[in-house]
Amino acid sequence: MNLPTEIRYRRYEDWTENEKHKIIENKAKSPWLASYHLEPKTGLLNDPNGFSYFNGKFQLFYQNWPFGAAHGLKQWVHTESSDLVHFKETGITLEPDHAHDSHGAYSGSAYEIDSKLFLFYTGNVRDEDWVRDPLQVGAWMDKEGHIEKFEKVLIQQPQDVTEHFRDPQIFDYQGQFYAIVGAQNLDKKGFIKLYKATNNDVTNWEFVGNLEFGGTGSEYMIECPNLVFVDNKPVLLYSPQGLDKSELDYDNIYPNTYKICQSFDTENTELVGASPIYNLDYGFEAYATQGFNAPDGKVYIVSWIGLPDIDYPTDQYDYQGAMSLVKELTIKDGKLYQYPVPAMKELRSEAKPLANLDSTNNTYELEVTVPSDSKTELILFADQESNGLKITINTKEGQLLVDRSSAGQQYAIDFGRTRQCDIDPSETKLNIFVDKSIFEIFVNDGEKVFTGRVFPNQDQTGIHIQEGQISGSYFDLGV
Ligand code: FRU
Repeated sequence: MNLPTEIRYRRYEDWTENEKHKIIENKAKSPWLASYHLEPKTGLLNDPNGFSYFNGKFQLFYQNWPFGAAHGLKQWVHTESSDLVHFKETGITLEPDHAHDSHGAYSGSAYEIDSKLFLFYTGNVRDEDWVRDPLQVGAWMDKEGHIEKFEKVLIQQPQDVTEHFRDPQIFDYQGQFYAIVGAQNLDKKGFIKLYKATNNDVTNWEFVGNLEFGGTGSEYMIECPNLVFVDNKPVLLYSPQGLDKSELDYDNIYPNTYKICQSFDTENTELVGASPIYNLDYGFEAYATQGFNAPDGKVYIVSWIGLPDIDYPTDQYDYQGAMSLVKELTIKDGKLYQYPVPAMKELRSEAKPLANLDSTNNTYELEVTVPSDSKTELILFADQESNGLKITINTKEGQLLVDRSSAGQQYAIDFGRTRQCDIDPSETKLNIFVDKSIFEIFVNDGEKVFTGRVFPNQDQTGIHIQEGQISGSYFDLGV
């Protein structure tokens, strides 16, 4: 939603209790509130931030402007979880209340160090002429949730970047702390800077070099770069804005992509043996994905189900955005797989055989198999006329197509109403999670993923098998 700058950057303390109350009341009227996905308590949710493990729990913050469905003065909102399925807001926030983050506590990461959580983030600062000074700053969060910001700036804007310099991700590589930061160079091309903590002290950072990852620089900015290690292979997850479509086929306003690499050469600042660039997700929205290597040896990622610069039907209720399910990353036969954590199975009620259903509560999981050499059409969020979200699985030609053109309220139509990807022309397994206005489709245990939203009309609650032979189970999901 387009709101004037004065409203979006109004100081938090200037909002009255009455105004805040109205925003909460308006959101409660939404017919699309999710059941088992994390949504903002109020206002707009964008990037996952500070995804980490600390004090015996998983930590996940989200970027937030609490006063409506717009990108304004951002804060981090803290949630925690024991199982990576149920996330609870704790009331802890990292607010833009310091001279070094006066115009927003922008995205960043977190890491447990000496019984405290180190928060590494971008302080968005603007002067009277609205000129931006992007600062990489830090804070400690203790076990009681008390946050203490560093007085010192950790990384200043380097000479060779524009005002677009943000989203530091800290990671440990062979016992040394490193950080990567997304940047735009003076020719307005996206790139990534690598830093390391001097003597492993995260209050002191030195520049290592510009990360070589086999990128072409066709993007104008790289947002939210993340480096994780899956089976010791570096996997770079990033959001390259303006990426040339000759390099990668994508339909969303901005893609979220990855590369699998063979090794990390810190001497030459290089991700060696980088694969081509791939879409992380083939759906209508998944962005700013953040991941980390957890102490349990697993690699977890979570995505913002939303995109910058898009209006959503929920805007009328003063909120926008949701967090995806947490997905575990693995590599099989050289391919990256993403699949919801095993604890998601605990939300399942008893299995029912998949059949046409006229009214569900739009809160379920389907686990289905489509035979080889066939074409199946499945409509979710279906009404009596079988309008809804159409999923066509063609195992003869090897294609999966998702069409939301007759599912409820339409939006972002400039970017098309269908999404598709190639699949193996053979028997195909799908796990489809539906949550009121969110869907996440996992093909063959996470080889391909489609994430997106639909905003169904009131009568769009059915499941219709229009064509083909599909079999499997339906599970109601309850929290
Ligand atoms: C990505 C992003 C980040 C930035 C944050 C601000 O969606 O633009 O680059 O830190 O959102 O909310």
